[in-house]
Amino acid sequence: MADLEKAGLLLDLGHEDTVATITLNRPERRNAQSPAMWKGLTDLSEELPESVRVVVLKGAGPSFSAGLDLRAFTPEGVPGEGPAVPPGTGPEELVELIGEYQRGFRWLRDPRFTTIAAVHGHAIGAAFQLALSCDLRIATEDARFCMKEPALGLVPDLTGTKPLVDIVGLPRALELCLTARVIPAAEAYELRLVEKVVATGGLDAAVEELVTALLQVEAGAARATKELLRQAPGNTLDEQCLAERRAQVGRLLRAR
Ligand code: ACO
Repeated sequence: MADLEKAGLLLDLGHEDTVATITLNRPERRNAQSPAMWKGLTDLSEELPESVRVVVLKGAGPSFSAGLDLRAFTPEGVPGEGPAVPPGTGPEELVELIGEYQRGFRWLRDPRFTTIAAVHGHAIGAAFQLALSCDLRIATEDARFCMKEPALGLVPDLTGTKPLVDIVGLPRALELCLTARVIPAAEAYELRLVEKVVATGGLDAAVEELVTALLQVEAGAARATKELLRQAPGNTLDEQCLAERRAQVGRLLRAR
C-alpha cells in the first residue's frame, strides 16, 4: 500500500472491505493538500481491494480541507516535497505535471466506486474541487465552500470546473468562481452542490446511513448504473438510449 502517512492520508476498510474511508490527515494545517497527497490518492485508488465499492473522503480535525498548501508556491515548497512547480519547468512539461496532479481527483469518477465527500468546516479551492470530484456530498451545517483560486491569480485546475458547471449552471459557476465568495452549507444545498446538510456532529451517522443504503443495491448494477448516468450529460437522447440498451444487455446476459 502507498506510503499513506507521508501523503497525509489515512485509510480504513469497513463493511467487510466493501467501504474505504480515506481521511485527509493533516489537521494541524487544516488538511492542506500537496502534490504528494494527490499522488497518494492516485496510488491508493490503484491499490484498493477489488471488494471496495464505496469510497468516503473526509477530513481530520476542524476542517475538511483548506485547499492547496500555500507553501507549495514558495521557492522551498512544502517541506519534504519541494515546490509544486519546479524551477525551469517548461509549459508542456507543466501541462503534463498538472495532468499528474489531476489523476488524484479523476479516479473518484470511476464507476467501480460510489464516492462520497463528507464535508465539515472548510472546503476551499482544491478541497472544493476534491468534493466536486465525488459522486455525492454530505455537509454539516457549519460547512463553507469557496472556489478561491481566481482570488489567488490562479484558475481552478483540479477537475472541479466541469462538475461545478454541470451542477449549478454557467452563470452561477462564473459568479462563484469570479467572486471567490464563501458558500455556506445552506446555500450549497439550495444550489445542489450537496445532497444533504446535517447537524454538526451528525456527519458520521449521516454518511453511515447513506453507505448502508448504497450497499443494499447489487454491486454490478450500481457500477453499470453509475457508468450510464455519468455519460448522460454528454450524450444525445439517441446515444443515451443506445447506452441504456447496451448496459441492460450486459446485465441480462451476465449469468449466461
Ligand atoms: N496552506 C498551508 N497552511 C495552512 C493552510 C493552507 N492552505 N490553511 C491553513 N493552514 C495552516 C495555518 O497557517 C495555521 O498554521 P499555524 O498554526 O502554524 O499558524 C494552521 O493551518 C491553522 O490555520 P488557521 O488559519 O489558524 O485556522 P482557522 O480555523 O482560523 O482558519 C482557514 C481556517 C479559513 C481554512 C484558513 O486557515 C485559511 O483561510 N487558509 C488558507 C486557505 C487558502 O487560501 N487555500 C488555498 C486555496 S487555492 C487552492 O486550493 C488551489
